[in-house]
Amino acid sequence: MKLWEGRFTQPSAKSADDFNQSLSFDYKLYWHDILASIAHVKMLGETQIIPKESADKISDTLVNILADIEKGSLPLEGAEDIHTFVEQELTKRIGATGKMLHTARSRNDQVATDLRLYVKDSIVNVCGHLKALVNTLLNIANNNVQYIMPGYTHMRRAQPISVAQYINAYSEMFLRDIERFTDCYKRTDVMPLGSCAMAGTDFPIDRRMTASLLSFSEISQNSIDAVSDRDFVAEYIFCCSTVMAHLSRFSEDIIYYSSEEFGFIDISDKYSTGSSIMPQKKNPDIPELVRGKTGRVYGDLTAILTVIKGIPLSYNKDLQEDKEALFDAETTVLGCLGIFNELLQNISFDTRKMRNAAAGGFSTATDIADYLVQKGMPFRDAHAVTGQIVRYCIENNKTLDKLDLFVYQQFSTLFDEEILQRVRVNKSVEARKVIGGSARSAVRENIRSITKRLNRMFKE
Ligand code: ARG
Repeated sequence: MKLWEGRFTQPSAKSADDFNQSLSFDYKLYWHDILASIAHVKMLGETQIIPKESADKISDTLVNILADIEKGSLPLEGAEDIHTFVEQELTKRIGATGKMLHTARSRNDQVATDLRLYVKDSIVNVCGHLKALVNTLLNIANNNVQYIMPGYTHMRRAQPISVAQYINAYSEMFLRDIERFTDCYKRTDVMPLGSCAMAGTDFPIDRRMTASLLSFSEISQNSIDAVSDRDFVAEYIFCCSTVMAHLSRFSEDIIYYSSEEFGFIDISDKYSTGSSIMPQKKNPDIPELVRGKTGRVYGDLTAILTVIKGIPLSYNKDLQEDKEALFDAETTVLGCLGIFNELLQNISFDTRKMRNAAAGGFSTATDIADYLVQKGMPFRDAHAVTGQIVRYCIENNKTLDKLDLFVYQQFSTLFDEEILQRVRVNKSVEARKVIGGSARSAVRENIRSITKRLNRMFKE
């Protein structure tokens, strides 16, 4: 059955049908489509736009159809799209009464409504995964406050940091992701139903009733915009993209920190892979795949933004291309979040190696400069003097914590005994007590703050 064949004298070509169809992917909307139809038909009955008994019969049959789909006894095939499929099945079961369902509705406002319902649920789901990930990170951070690793800039040793402070940095990113999704939810939570094809309807429908049945907070205020707006899809995929960006950066860190050259992290065998030719290899395929899949989600974002950019108002069939991008971004981000959480629960740190690496590479040089500033030298001069000390160490194969005091004093008379303490990595880490800094007290405060913000985000 086609919903639109009345006007035509010839049946459509099979190739055109195949090209036009969306059921092969929009079947995923079945639950939300039926839910929206039940709300719509209840409203039609309540407002007496169709007889109450007909509305009840349609609604009961839709519930049965949903149950059959869930059971797997009703295969989702043989129609142009999910909306046609449901209406066709309804009419098959209850005849002419089923044909009343589409009163005061168009597939244009129907699909926009289904998609918004779907995205709202998906946001809740993805945020649940993000919450679980942050909880794993908080656990790791709590166990590693006292351990020290090198912090890098430009992939060169910069300053010693706490392992927990490093882990917390990722928690901060994922908290922002939750916030971004929460914000996207607000703009998605607007019901387009009642906009019909594009101009609204002359039936006395009660849009607020339908919205409240579907738990939409708002209803759209312009029917032309409502049927053609897919900003919420683009925004959702952008939110997925930042999650992937963060997962990808984390993957990159894990890949090189677990390499033989670094040896800071060990990924459990359960989440590693081997080589078909080199027996010694233990490969980080999982973080590599997460890093690789980031490109897919960016591709999905580019796809939806490009679909939207050139279409005239209002609905155009181009908009059918919104779904595969959305579903692919969702599946990818959920899959990556799930496996990444497991991976993180199965990594271990070589804290000795990390600490030794932190002590190398003159990573406390900034502490020397800061020390001189505290003794009265202007920072720029202190930077230059410290640079000379580092050069001296390089030329004489020494480290900053192994230099004698008298050597320091050759570079400046401001140096006293205290400098020998200040250049030790644990002192350097402990010295940074500023909010957000590396000292244990600051890192513990960061953990508390992350926990508090996370809990607050899920309370509302
Ligand atoms: N499958 C279509 C979509 O996903 C449903 C809306 C069809 N509307 C239309 N006027 N042909 O966009």
